[in-house]
Amino acid sequence: MTHRIAVCPGSFDPVTLGHLDLVRRASALADEVVVAVGTGYGKNALLTPAQRRDLFADAVAHLPGVRVQLMSGLLIDLCREVGATAVIKGIRGGADYDHEQPMALMNRHLAGIETVFLPADASVVHISSTMVRDVARYGGPIGDLVPPGVEEAVRAALAARTTTRREQP
Ligand code: PNS
Repeated sequence: MTHRIAVCPGSFDPVTLGHLDLVRRASALADEVVVAVGTGYGKNALLTPAQRRDLFADAVAHLPGVRVQLMSGLLIDLCREVGATAVIKGIRGGADYDHEQPMALMNRHLAGIETVFLPADASVVHISSTMVRDVARYGGPIGDLVPPGVEEAVRAALAARTTTRREQP
């Protein structure tokens, strides 16, 4: 029987309950899931790559067959390295599809890697890492949007940032 490995890529700055739901559902479709935490793609991340990886790893520790690693090159190279035949991505709506569709087609063009889009569950469709960072930045509660431990890491990173780069009046 074929052993199917899928990759779930993203920035995960920070991991949210939406990502967790996606990976849980992906792990029901594949024998192994590799979460690929993208680093160095020009995004100015709040959390360090190691923090993003470790917070995700803590959140999926209870899921058998799921592991988390950093990615800094082409997604298709990581797929080859780990033996994955598919990418699984969550889609919240049309904007996500517009963003993901060209990447999916390019990955198929380059290496025959198929992308499977899973519609976000209604319970988490409003959650994005960008919104989580924004809500936290202005002092709002994010504890029920992210896995345990993430809120503290986000608050600490934001506090460190505010002390180094305070906006001039
Ligand atoms: O959805 P995100 O968080 O913006 O995605 C970030 C990430 C890392 C998943 C995306 O930038 C990516 O897949 N980068 C890998 C670079 C690559 O393979 N590019 C060529 C084909 S798209």
